[in-house]
Amino acid sequence: MGRRVLVTGGAGYIGSHTLVALQEAGFEVVVIDSLCNSSEIALQRVQMITGTSVRFYHGDIRDRALLEQIFTENSIHAVIHFAGLKAVGESSQKPIDYYQSNVTGSLVLLEAIQAYGVKQLVFSSSATVYGSEAPVPYVETLQTGSTSNPYGTSKWMVEQVLKDAALANPELSVALLRYFNPVGAHPSGLIGEDPQGIPNNLLPYIAQVAVGKRKELSVFGDDYPTPDGTCLRDYLHVMDLAEGHVCALEWLEGKTGTIAFNLGTGKGTSVLDIVRAFEQASGVSIPYRVAPRRAGDLPAFWADASKAKQDLGWVARLGLDQMMVDTWHWQTNNPHGYGIATNDR
Ligand code: NAD
Ligand code: UD1
Repeated sequence: MGRRVLVTGGAGYIGSHTLVALQEAGFEVVVIDSLCNSSEIALQRVQMITGTSVRFYHGDIRDRALLEQIFTENSIHAVIHFAGLKAVGESSQKPIDYYQSNVTGSLVLLEAIQAYGVKQLVFSSSATVYGSEAPVPYVETLQTGSTSNPYGTSKWMVEQVLKDAALANPELSVALLRYFNPVGAHPSGLIGEDPQGIPNNLLPYIAQVAVGKRKELSVFGDDYPTPDGTCLRDYLHVMDLAEGHVCALEWLEGKTGTIAFNLGTGKGTSVLDIVRAFEQASGVSIPYRVAPRRAGDLPAFWADASKAKQDLGWVARLGLDQMMVDTWHWQTNNPHGYGIATNDR
């Protein structure tokens, strides 16, 4: 029997792709998800891809009784913690909701992890913890903090909590995975990113323009100090990111303490480069217009991903073209995403 992993937020975008990678690596998976930003159909699709079942508990990670049930009914070896709210703009409008879900949720989960003697935890952190002052490329040894919105601050706070928890409990080992910009979808076109309402992020927006759901892309600023004036980001394929979680789990075996890893490609790509790459992959032209800068955007950041390569043996293998092809495949197969109204947000 494979090792059993509890995946919080497993019905979400990154969670569902990670389930595929975990099952393909021989792990058994148990999911808890409130479906507040996802659909149970994603889990059915994961099972279609892998041919292996996913045990699903519908509920909130702050529900202590449900966590108790999950840990009692399943012998959990490790936890991968994706569950949380992630819309940066919304986090400034609803900070309490964000701290509740992301910080309180992580605390309640951590209590259960300790109570049931689970020794390994992988946490979904973000490049945003480096804050607005950090020099590029971001390297894990940089000081973190100076976050500029409640979402980013909640990720930073959970990192601090986990560091202290691992210091106090030498049995516990924690990987803080700092994701850069995940895009793309599983090559089957069965699972992908299904944003609610108007997408905040670049790739989902472009994909919806391409299928005619949105008129044109607004490029937020072309007067940044970058080669073409638009912002640079480190886009990585979500299946590479998913693999990073499998590598982290394997690496945590027998370790103690907390360790942070950047998961990115190490390359910066501009907004206009992304538009061109998407057009090339899809054969569809993307009308765009230059709009004012978006508040809070940084001109350019990308990862120094050498630590993940050295320690985890992980590198992002899939290039920009594959990211675009798979985004397009997912979007054309599922123009309305999972297309059902199970979401209550
Ligand atoms: P997502 O919204 O698709 O997935 C999050 C999942 O968690 C959803 O299925 C949602 O229903 C569930 N959830 C939310 N709050 C919950 C709660 N209190 N209890 C139970 N389930 C809950 O987001 P994603 O893009 O897959 O991101 C996964 C994680 O990675 C998040 O923690 C996010 O902050 C982090 N992250 C994402 C990105 C990105 O670009 N997508 C970048 C950096 C970090
Ligand atoms: C955003 C979040 C970040 C989070 C990440 C992944 C902000 C300020 N930052 O990162 O904390 O970790 O999402 O969820 O929201 N762009 C356009 N037009 C669009 C959309 C985006 O030009 O319609 C540009 C943006 O200005 C940016 C780039 O595309 O330069 C990427 O944007 P996005 O996909 O939202 O990611 P980030 O801003 O890097």
